[in-house]
Amino acid sequence: MNSRRNFIKKTSVVGTGIAMTPAFTYGIFEKGQNEKLNIGVIGVDDRGTGHLVNLLMRKDVNITAICDIDQGRIAIAKNKIAKAGGKAPKTFGSNTYDYRNLLELSDVDAVVIATPWLWHTRMTVDAMKAGKYAGVEVSAANTMEECWVS
Ligand SMILES: NC(=O)c1ccc[n+]([C@@H]2O[C@H](COP(=O)([O-])OP(=O)(O)OC[C@H]3O[C@@H](n4cnc5c(N)ncnc54)[C@H](O)[C@@H]3O)[C@@H](O)[C@H]2O)c1
Repeated sequence: MNSRRNFIKKTSVVGTGIAMTPAFTYGIFEKGQNEKLNIGVIGVDDRGTGHLVNLLMRKDVNITAICDIDQGRIAIAKNKIAKAGGKAPKTFGSNTYDYRNLLELSDVDAVVIATPWLWHTRMTVDAMKAGKYAGVEVSAANTMEECWVS
């Protein structure tokens, strides 16, 4: 099984509240493999930036893209990535659906979604439809109707 599949196998992000240690939350690659997981972070205010900081401490992850409709938050996130020695990420957030352009990137394997509640289901379903592994903050869905969104 390749390392990306192991990432998901060992990851339990969705609906957990993401309050665990980074290693448990984001999974651990098999030792000896050099492949890095490329992650996009959608929503980089307090919570999303917290996830970003945890991810930046990992050697098995690249942050390849970030998205936020608040350009001030994008600037802060980019600064943290640069200070950690990371390559400048592609950035999105020109409108509330610009995250869908991030989801089209071939160099994004997985996304961490830390936007307000009412975006969670839509963004998570869109991410999975785009073939990306998706980790989402609580809550995953807010209504019974959202549980049937496709
Ligand atoms: N802050 C915490 O301690 C905490 C703890 C547990 C769970 N959570 C959950 O994490 C999520 C984020 O928390 P927060 O405190 O950072 O929230 P927040 O509302 O402060 O930040 C959300 C960010 O998402 C951005 N955003 C909103 N709509 C967007 C869109 N369509 N596209 C791109 N970006 C968009 C906003 O500009 C903002 O920067 C929430 O769902 C919250 O319930 C937060």
